Amino acid sequence: MSTPEQVTIEIEGNQYEFPVVTGSEDEKAIDISKLRSSTGYVTLDPAFVNTASCTSDITFLDGEKGILHYRGYPIEELAAKASFIETSYLLIYGELPTSDQLTTFTDKITASSSIPEQLKSLFDTYPASAHPMANLSSMICTLSAFYPEASATDLSAEQIDASIAQLISQVTTLTAYSYKKSLGQTLVDPDQKLDYCANFLKMMFGLAGENFEIDQDIVEALNLLLILHADHEQNCSTSAVRLVGSSRTNLFAAISSGALALWGPLHGGANQAVLEMLETINEAGGDYNQFLAKAKDPDDSFRLMGFGHRVYKNFDPRAKIIKVACDKILAKLGVENPLLAIAKGLEEAALQDEYFVSRKLYPNVDFYSGIIYHALGIPTDMFTVMFAVGRMPGWIAQWKEMLDQGSKIGRPRQIYTGAVPRSYESIELR
Ligand code: ACO
Repeated sequence: MSTPEQVTIEIEGNQYEFPVVTGSEDEKAIDISKLRSSTGYVTLDPAFVNTASCTSDITFLDGEKGILHYRGYPIEELAAKASFIETSYLLIYGELPTSDQLTTFTDKITASSSIPEQLKSLFDTYPASAHPMANLSSMICTLSAFYPEASATDLSAEQIDASIAQLISQVTTLTAYSYKKSLGQTLVDPDQKLDYCANFLKMMFGLAGENFEIDQDIVEALNLLLILHADHEQNCSTSAVRLVGSSRTNLFAAISSGALALWGPLHGGANQAVLEMLETINEAGGDYNQFLAKAKDPDDSFRLMGFGHRVYKNFDPRAKIIKVACDKILAKLGVENPLLAIAKGLEEAALQDEYFVSRKLYPNVDFYSGIIYHALGIPTDMFTVMFAVGRMPGWIAQWKEMLDQGSKIGRPRQIYTGAVPRSYESIELR
């Protein structure tokens, strides 16, 4: 049957017609933007399970088929062939860069890598034990204090480009500084001779004043992880960026709200939770079956972290790519990690278990990423920070698209279920 151009809704005996919108991949939606003004009704859709909050040209994903495309390019091709900076350009500006465009973009990012001097001293005011996501989100927001021009009401394209380069670049510097601070080590300044991933690794793992040997396999593994995390359409953190940005707050503020949303264990924080779960299973003797049983028990709040996804109901294509990369990087580094064996056993058992099969629960991007981060020497509480570094171009692209669309301020409705009007009575004073 062909898609109708409009649908009819009958309410209280009256019929109303609403247009049908069809996306370039044949996704269909009923455009209800005039529903309230014409009928007086609103829709109720907690957690936006059935609601498209916008149209978007950036990322397409088909959860049933396990498909993920950035601007039409399959994630598998970008992961195999592209660099993270190329992918960032693609997401933000809509097309893969020409050689000249890539050089200009890369140079801008490289030239923007040093964070403002005064910002460095702010790291001293945070406790060494602070969660790195607390540091990162507040430092991103604090960039708006140092770059007030980003808050102008009439932003020029050049100003937006400058803020974009500052963000993509400085998020690695902030991350590395926060890590060095937690170790009590001297900060390593950005090395503008290195490419994005190599420079990031040097700032993280190099020692001030000492030579840092670059391992190309590790650079490639990091590049891959960042590409796989670069965008994922209207998830919790991206929706936060678009919603906060819709008030026309500056880019740094909007992105820091995305970082805060990402932090939670049901979203980007799951990568930390997965590794902690695998460690707990290992310490308990490695028997993952009792943890599977806990995850299935309706009276137990425990969930199998890194399993399940709001949209993917077949497989997460990013998880497939990461699983292969995980084997490769562990073999290369000669790391025998018992957690990998537990993860594989757990995955195999869950994929044969009726509870997980019937609910279409598959490993998501976070299930194996933590094992690679761990092998690269990244501490567990920084996994979500690594996710945020990768997601930066996606958040920026979505923010930019929201502005280019001239989006109205986001403001959902509600259905009030509280007390009906009643009169105030004074408390009798004794
Ligand atoms: N372990 C055990 N049971 C699960 C899991 C899990 N990981 N995920 C979902 N379920 C069960 C639920 O209990 C529910 O069962 P029921 O129908 O018997 O009540 C059913 O599957 C549907 O679950 P919902 O919570 O309704 O699914 P939702 O789409 O709201 O949640 C989410 C998706 C948050 C990702 C969920 O699967 C989850 O909590 N997973 C673990 C955390 C995780 O890995 N998050 C990372 C997601 S990827 C990312 O954000 C980068």
